[in-house]
Amino acid sequence: MTGIEELLGIVLREITPTEEERKKILQVFEKIREALEKHLRSVGVTAEVTLQGSIAHETWLRGDRDLDVFVLYPEEWSVKDVKERGFQLIKEAVENLGRVEVKYAEHPYVRVVVEDVEADIVPAFKLKSPANIRTAVDRTPFHTQFVVEHLKNGLNNDVRLLKKFMKTVGVYGAEVKTKGFSGYAAELLVIKYGGFLNTLKAASEWRPPVYVNTLGDEVLFREAVRRLVEKYPESIIYMPDPVDPSRNVTAAVSMEKLSKFILSAKCFLEKPTLRYFEDVGEGASTDIAETIDERCVIVVELEASTRLPPEVIWGELDRIRDRCVKFLVNHDFNVYYSTVWTDESKRGVVVLELDECEKPAYKLYEGPPFTDLNRVIDFARKHAGKSVKIWLSREGKLMSISRRSARSSLDLLATRYNEYLVSPHFKNSKPVVYRVTRGNIDALTSKYGVNVLRDLARKIEPWLLDCTS
Ligand code: UTP
Ligand code: MN
Repeated sequence: MTGIEELLGIVLREITPTEEERKKILQVFEKIREALEKHLRSVGVTAEVTLQGSIAHETWLRGDRDLDVFVLYPEEWSVKDVKERGFQLIKEAVENLGRVEVKYAEHPYVRVVVEDVEADIVPAFKLKSPANIRTAVDRTPFHTQFVVEHLKNGLNNDVRLLKKFMKTVGVYGAEVKTKGFSGYAAELLVIKYGGFLNTLKAASEWRPPVYVNTLGDEVLFREAVRRLVEKYPESIIYMPDPVDPSRNVTAAVSMEKLSKFILSAKCFLEKPTLRYFEDVGEGASTDIAETIDERCVIVVELEASTRLPPEVIWGELDRIRDRCVKFLVNHDFNVYYSTVWTDESKRGVVVLELDECEKPAYKLYEGPPFTDLNRVIDFARKHAGKSVKIWLSREGKLMSISRRSARSSLDLLATRYNEYLVSPHFKNSKPVVYRVTRGNIDALTSKYGVNVLRDLARKIEPWLLDCTS
């Protein structure tokens, strides 16, 4: 058996970027920097072009070619100047370097792809102190400063291990799509606990709600947490940003993802294997083909009224999924499982597995006791039309066997979609609803690729299988 240190060594050799890759990325950065500086000079604007994010922190994973470039404009500029003029200047400067896309986070930025490297170029302020932060992205340069200062003695490699672990398990990424940990959160954890294994050891003992002291000073920390709990009542893990303690770095982490991280940490420490660092393969459609006809798995295909940014479309689909579940539960269905997928543009899919697709024609209703005449009359009147039998039970309650107005979950979903298509960009669309069967599963795979089916088809995640067997 390999020791845990040896195992981590093997992983590290695989996830550390190659020299070649590093050179390539830095070359692209230089190219972008030159183009930006030249253009800024030509219009007489003094701004600093900086490298941020995991490339600057030396915490990026091999094969991840995303470059975070921040252009820092003078503090005297207004927020509007930065968001409009600052953004425009970036766009003009890099237009000839490669394919350019305009992106909108809290504020607009430019994405340019140069020789396979994807660079996000963000306009922000050059600030002297984080106390002067004016837009969300202004924290980033301070993050870089903090992380570079604290990730000494090879701890950056521990961040790589933690990121890879989190990715494999499915808890890496703070976007609405994942609701997990951001890269910066992973970095702060490694700094706080002093390494990858120590982070897992600590996490394996967490019980939500979790409070991680990322500030050091106990008094400051308690004060910060008090305010964070007020500001983020929905969060279940609190990590004050050392650069700006009024912000919770892990605000977006969901209960599902936090518990997944805790459980996987426990499992890994119990039985460390390479599985926690191996890309999980796709679930094969043959895996579910065998049982699919005996199950009730329903696909609801949706199309938004317009192309939407990822954060918006994932958020809207989340809401629709919740409403679908409630809607079906209201009609007596037991929803075993539900998930959503989107192409991050216009198309969305809600997948639902129910106990059964169709309810029996008749349902037993329990009415009021004989002692309450008014309610007895109400109940009897209400059921008169659809009841096939009304009687008093042995306990003295009025009972009715009544015909259901709707039996089929598929019909319900296909006709009463206004009851669950509640989000702004899907309100006026008409869903396509069908049951997944052995006969259409291959068509489904080729239509959506493995993305939709991956969740559906995989019986159990490899690491969990390892852990429980
Ligand atoms: P990235 O999302 O690119 O993360 O954000 P990263 O640290 O570079 O990690 P990977 O390797 O690409 O996955 C870049 C910077 O933006 C800020 C952080 O300062 C981060 O370093 N950021 C981003 C946040 O503060 N919070 C977020 O949720 C996302
Ligand atoms: Mn990045």
